[in-house]
Amino acid sequence: MGLNCEYYVESDMSLEKAGETIGLEESTGTWTEVETKPNDIEYLTAKVSSVDEENNLVVVEFPDELFEENNIPQILSVVAGNLFGLSSLKNVRLKDISFSEEIAKSFPGPRYGINDIKKIVGAENRPLFGTIIKPKVGLPPKKTAKVAYEAAMGGVDLVKDDETLTSQEFNLIEDRISEVMEELDKAKEETGHETLYACNVTADNKEAVERAKLVEESGGNMVMVDVITSGFSTLKAVSEAVDLPVHVHRAMHAAFTRKRKHGISMVPVSKLVRLAGGSQLHTGSYHGKMHGEKKEITKSKRALRDEWFNHKPALPVASGGIHPGLVAKNLNYYGKNSVIQAGGGIHGHPDGTREGAKAMKQAIIAWKEDISLEEYSKNHRALAKALERWGERAEYDY
Ligand code: 3PG
Repeated sequence: MGLNCEYYVESDMSLEKAGETIGLEESTGTWTEVETKPNDIEYLTAKVSSVDEENNLVVVEFPDELFEENNIPQILSVVAGNLFGLSSLKNVRLKDISFSEEIAKSFPGPRYGINDIKKIVGAENRPLFGTIIKPKVGLPPKKTAKVAYEAAMGGVDLVKDDETLTSQEFNLIEDRISEVMEELDKAKEETGHETLYACNVTADNKEAVERAKLVEESGGNMVMVDVITSGFSTLKAVSEAVDLPVHVHRAMHAAFTRKRKHGISMVPVSKLVRLAGGSQLHTGSYHGKMHGEKKEITKSKRALRDEWFNHKPALPVASGGIHPGLVAKNLNYYGKNSVIQAGGGIHGHPDGTREGAKAMKQAIIAWKEDISLEEYSKNHRALAKALERWGERAEYDY
């Protein structure tokens, strides 16, 4: 069956020809015939399997034998390799990949699926909600831990590092993990509620694995990886090295996902993250500060959650410019099997982090009980204050 890849293509050639060009470049051909090509390698040649003229789409089937099992870098070198730079193609965008059972099953997938994570924080019947410690960088470990404690006391299920905080001099990971877990344990004693801490272990491959082990040994309950900057192989190595759920940030994705006609959509990225063991992936907000196409967010969310071979489902994460006034607008699309996060939308609350977290929680309860924010805020002060500050609008609405 192979890997069937759907490409949007613009070129002076027919779609069929463009698809053939992609298939040959990425399998047994090049720009000219070569003397060295044996007759018996035809089974490795990628071929066009369908063409949709109306939407400029072509599906290329890459035979299974072209791939190694359990090797994402190699898959990407084939289906998302040289083809993007071919002068004969004006625009080309990889929109989706359908995996054969054999290749898909050769990957580990998430150790912790949606139900496993929901059970840890007791969120079986609702979405998880979390916060990104702000400012992104600059707080020392003790201060980071205090902010985490305040957020946990406000009821968040998840506290996370931001994508640019790793182990800089002002906040070494070995100090941060122990300080934060100590404060979260304290909060748990007071509330009885477990809070996850996605500690960012992003670094060179080996170092990321070492950091993930350190998090596990220090009593941490989640790790985080910036998958695009550190690579799918780092994500996989981390998820295989520790028995912890892995939160996945996608910083830098927009360099290739943002343009409609060229690059790679978030859909294949979501599938690859799931194959590599990610338990949660940022898939954008339907209403927030980051650019995102509604259709693509919906497809990415399904790629993470739908039944797929033997792999556990992963949680899509709505993040970026979210505040309590935008909770319903995002959850109406994401539903209860998701994570909704706010950084500025919690720590920017007029009464501080704890009240900011409470306001988010109140907005989620209002959404769940189908009560308007206006109505619910009449008896919920934290929410009322958040709405006073931000209203119900996003910085950018799509
Ligand atoms: C993220 O990691 O998604 C952003 O740092 C979110 O931060 P914000 O909620 O303040 O936009």
